[in-house]
Amino acid sequence: MKFLEEVENLLHNKIKKLGAEANVSLSFSDRPELCDFQTNVAFSLSKILKKSPIMIANEIVENMENENFEIFAVAPGFINVKLKDKMLSKILEELYSDPRVGIEKIENKKVLIDYGGPNIAKPLHVGHLRSAIIGETIKRLCRFVGNDVTSDVHLGDWGLQMGLVIAGIMEKYDCKYFFTGEGEKPCFDFEELAGIYPESSARSKVDEEFKARAKEITVKLQQKEKGYYDLWNEIKNISIDDIKKIYKILNVDFELWNGESDSEPYIKNVFEILSEKNLIEKSEGAEIVNVERETDTSPMPPLIVRSSAGAELYATTELATIISRVQNYSPEEIIYLTDNRQSLHFNQVFRVCSLAGIAENAKLTHITFGTVNGKDGKPFKTRDGGTMYLSDLIEMVKDACRKKLLENQKIEDDQIEKLAEQIGISALKFGDMINYPSKDYIFDIPKFCSFEGKTGPYMQYSIVRINSILDKAKDFEPCFEIVNQETREVIINLLKFAKDVVCAYRDYAPNIFVQSAYNLASSFSTLYNKTNILNEVDKNKRNSLLTLIKTVKTALQIFAELLAIDIPKKM
Ligand code: ARG
Repeated sequence: MKFLEEVENLLHNKIKKLGAEANVSLSFSDRPELCDFQTNVAFSLSKILKKSPIMIANEIVENMENENFEIFAVAPGFINVKLKDKMLSKILEELYSDPRVGIEKIENKKVLIDYGGPNIAKPLHVGHLRSAIIGETIKRLCRFVGNDVTSDVHLGDWGLQMGLVIAGIMEKYDCKYFFTGEGEKPCFDFEELAGIYPESSARSKVDEEFKARAKEITVKLQQKEKGYYDLWNEIKNISIDDIKKIYKILNVDFELWNGESDSEPYIKNVFEILSEKNLIEKSEGAEIVNVERETDTSPMPPLIVRSSAGAELYATTELATIISRVQNYSPEEIIYLTDNRQSLHFNQVFRVCSLAGIAENAKLTHITFGTVNGKDGKPFKTRDGGTMYLSDLIEMVKDACRKKLLENQKIEDDQIEKLAEQIGISALKFGDMINYPSKDYIFDIPKFCSFEGKTGPYMQYSIVRINSILDKAKDFEPCFEIVNQETREVIINLLKFAKDVVCAYRDYAPNIFVQSAYNLASSFSTLYNKTNILNEVDKNKRNSLLTLIKTVKTALQIFAELLAIDIPKKM
């Protein structure tokens, strides 16, 4: 924001004249009725200049006012800046004509983002929600500020869980077809598949023989032995179809549908690099890399890269995937999104990378998030305490929205299904991303689905309402008058939104721009309630208000695009 830098420079120079040096950064005021921006610089200068903050603030602001800004000091030493109407009107003109409403492009890195991370043959459950939706938004944010971004779903398709599923299937179905090409291909759908993993997993805990068999199959699969490999491919295709269906509803999509298995050709590189650097140690038959540092204050176990049975592990494919990504995409940053239980894993992996010189030119970032909880503060479960599948969770939210829509006489019946989905997804995403990612939150369906208050549907409704006003108004001549105090607050909120999109990107925290978008929508609502836009008789005023709300619409559409939510035509 150029005008802000201008004021900051003016203040900086004035401070210099007073014989001190300080960087001035203006922040948005939390008392909009008083001023638009403020700085506490006088407090930090107080010690250096040996005067009270208010005396300094008064000296700084003396003769500073110009045609664009009012600058004044208030006790005990704040410096406040208020934009004059002339300046605000210039700003509105700029924002109106900018399809990015002032959101700067600040970066052009090559970024690879790894999110979603669903596992083959296991249904997506509530725990997969956040990686998918926060990941999608971080990806969109990264792109919006100028980066060249590639996304990869990184399927969990190569570990022991595959051995368990295959062992389970081979007991239930005749799988000769895959091994010899004889007989018929056994037929199982995703639901049947999904039932197998929990069974096999439970059984492996009590049945040693079964567990050993699953481990053996895992090793054979990893060697791509015919039969096991073909069966695995079948399982994978069935699973991906199901995963894609759910992701589509969530508006989540990927350029790359790679999995752990695709890192297989790079596994040998992992061992080459690690051996060359003498990083591999043997421990109880397994191969490990010690990643402890002297400065560690909590225990840091070694990273196991090969199990005693000879299988490649989650950590091995992780390292191989990094090597393949570096070779094929040369990313300058790789971003991972998983829940915070994987913090240790990524910490260890990143340490191995730095010890081994893998991905030296890429920043490695792990974004974590907390748990989706029920009202009891414990992880969200089904009524009888079972795992909540993502598809059921989405259905519950859609149901709640459908019920609301059915109460509304104006909505045609054939619109309800689509609308319930659009509104439901927005409710779910907003309810999640209004929270700081690493925080747990409570999944409160009635609250999320309300059309009023801080919710996704409210945000959609704001855009729908603006669209309806603009439709009724037909063509208008852009005009930039500051009509009233409410207008002023909307413009300041537009500025704040533009700034916060960039902050959200820098902090990997969507909640920052989601909150600002909400503040913007709510300032529009206040304006709308106080001003009869369409019936305004003063032509310039009417045009100015329409210009303003059209700019708000552009900003809110960017918000919707970043959150990957649809805007209904009517609601
Ligand atoms: N499939 C993993 C899980 O369900 C998440 C994968 C995350 N990405 C990664 N590169 N490790 O826990």
